[in-house]
Amino acid sequence: IAHFLNLSSILTQIITLFRHFAINACLAPLYSLEGMHIITVEGIGNCRRGLHPVQERLAEAHGSQCGFCTPGFVMSMYALLRSSKQPPTKEQIEDSLAGNLCRCTGYRPIIDAFGVFAKTDDSLYTASPSESANGKAICPSTGKPCLCRNETDVNGNESSLLSSVKTYLPSSYNEIDGNAYNEKELIFPPELQLRKIMPLRLNGFNGVRWYRPLKLDQLLQLKSCYPEAKLIIGNSEVGVETEFKNAQYGVMISVTHVPELHTLKVEEDGLRIGSAVRLAQLQDFLKKVIAERGSLQTSSCQAILRQLKWFAGTQIRNVASVGGNICTASPISDLNPLWMSTGATFQIIDVNNNVRTTVAKDFFLGYRKVDLKDDEVLLSVILPWTRPFEYVKEFKQAHRRQDDIALVNAGMRVHITEAEGNWIVSDVSIVYGGVAAVPLTAGKTESFLVGKKLDYGLLDEAFNLLKEDIPLAENAPGGMVEFRSSLTLSFFFKFFLYVTHEMNTKGLSEGLDVANMSAIQSYTRPVTTGTQGYELVRQGTAVGQPMVHLSAMLQLPNFPLGSLVSSSQKMCPVLTILGQLDSSKKRILGQLSMMGRFLHLMSLLVLARSLESLWQTPMIMQKLLQIK
Ligand SMILES: Cc1cc2nc3c(=O)[nH]c(=O)nc-3n(C[C@H](O)[C@H](O)[C@H](O)COP(=O)(O)OP(=O)(O)OC[C@H]3O[C@@H](n4cnc5c(N)ncnc54)[C@H](O)[C@@H]3O)c2cc1C
Ligand code: FES
Repeated sequence: IAHFLNLSSILTQIITLFRHFAINACLAPLYSLEGMHIITVEGIGNCRRGLHPVQERLAEAHGSQCGFCTPGFVMSMYALLRSSKQPPTKEQIEDSLAGNLCRCTGYRPIIDAFGVFAKTDDSLYTASPSESANGKAICPSTGKPCLCRNETDVNGNESSLLSSVKTYLPSSYNEIDGNAYNEKELIFPPELQLRKIMPLRLNGFNGVRWYRPLKLDQLLQLKSCYPEAKLIIGNSEVGVETEFKNAQYGVMISVTHVPELHTLKVEEDGLRIGSAVRLAQLQDFLKKVIAERGSLQTSSCQAILRQLKWFAGTQIRNVASVGGNICTASPISDLNPLWMSTGATFQIIDVNNNVRTTVAKDFFLGYRKVDLKDDEVLLSVILPWTRPFEYVKEFKQAHRRQDDIALVNAGMRVHITEAEGNWIVSDVSIVYGGVAAVPLTAGKTESFLVGKKLDYGLLDEAFNLLKEDIPLAENAPGGMVEFRSSLTLSFFFKFFLYVTHEMNTKGLSEGLDVANMSAIQSYTRPVTTGTQGYELVRQGTAVGQPMVHLSAMLQLPNFPLGSLVSSSQKMCPVLTILGQLDSSKKRILGQLSMMGRFLHLMSLLVLARSLESLWQTPMIMQKLLQIK
């Protein structure tokens, strides 16, 4: 996790607020972390110094098997705890883990492990199951008959059926702390606090240059010197391009410290959102604005906030920016259809300080192509307030809810006004993503709807027009054409139901059929619950016992165990390790992933050494080191 000064404090050097963010190390260029305190899983605790309470819980609750995902889960949870003033809720815990994937455990033990840090309802973990009339145990969590109860066998031995519920004792972050953990929590290093933030100019391999301006005019100057320079904010797109698509950029300009691009302002005509604003920051800001302004003016804000919930995971939202998403112009961007349908405008500045404004609808020109010249930079987005009787709704369908890209997404807005005693559509905008190279506007459907009363009678015609507006050829990229076509229609149907319901609550339209009510509610994932029942087979050995496996203690701090290194020739000695990395990775600009690879090689040596000292088997050493 990156632990750094709140941006305002970086800029003013006055406020000393610190925040902890979990981020993906593999997408964090080393240079982008200059001035920050980086906390890794090795730093918070290990089996020699004592495990951190978060690590300890994961091991105790059997939340680690192969250990591949374990450091990520630990750090996500650690970041949440360090940045929460109160114990987090279960929802917050699950949300913070949405960007972590595990192939082995099935998630229940992981979520259960961290459940003890939540503020909600310890009784779920501690209360004994009660008994129903027929003598069956009632689970305190679900209220249904279950196998939670410990039973005594005929010989009086404890329990043949155990449930994971039994294993949770009431505990809090502080109570667990101190068990084996004797370290103090890491603080933001004083020397970093005193450090003056400077503009950066760094040289990498192959003449690659990295700039970090601190002011807008410095950025514009750099852009005029290097029109083709790549701007970088969160690197969640550029990092993927350089790592997996062989993209190479000679000059990179990190704009994370340019204050003008971080504007977040409530203005008369709407919100001004700087292009470098992180998505997590935008979420917080939107929540505040919605709470302050109420629902009337904030229908667009609410739609964007709901869409952000399903945008990647916390680690990506902590770094990814509004401008990075817009300028990438990905066909499956979750936000671009919303900017278009809400009538947002983009402010663009050129190297001569001229600012122009364009509507979002005109900005996307082709596949990953936008209306932005080499000497221009996206400055900010203006999101207009919604008017009375103006409704905005977001849609996204993916293979799974969280941390997945959309199969189809959409943004829809309608404004209903009264004309001669009828409530009719005066303005409507329907935009789909994931169906073409750019987000598509359903122009014919929009024209058909304007001036009409929104009722069931016009649905058939609207559906026919939608099929014409959003055609999906049989061989359309992404496949699943029939399914995706039906999604475009069902999104519109849901929007129709939503608006009808909203108007109905004001007594201005007919009521909804009860059967359709579920379609208007935004999806909310309930907190996960689950128990594991298993039979204890006592054989006098560890077999059959729910024991914490020993390597869990090593996996939690990501203790290096070993790594396979392939070679094109057999029997090659290791000549140099660092030198070898240097030559093969020259094109990479100080990526953290490089550090990871270095650690893998180092771990091989550690393994080799420990094998040698443990078993004195030079043969194994020889074999392990036969790499070039
Ligand atoms: C694991 C993962 C999950 C993801 N999930 C989703 C998802 O659910 N939905 C979704 O829509 N996207 C998703 N993305 C894509 C990505 O996170 C977003 O597009 C993100 O918003 C990009 O922002 P960034 O700051 O990281 O961009 P960067 O990678 O830093 O930059 C992206 C591009 O924008 C340009 N750029 C940035 N700022 C400006 C500016 N001010 N002016 C001009 N050009 C600029 C850069 O030069 C670059 O070409 C995901 C990515 C990953 C890796
Ligand atoms: S991937 Fe999660 S323990 Fe193996």
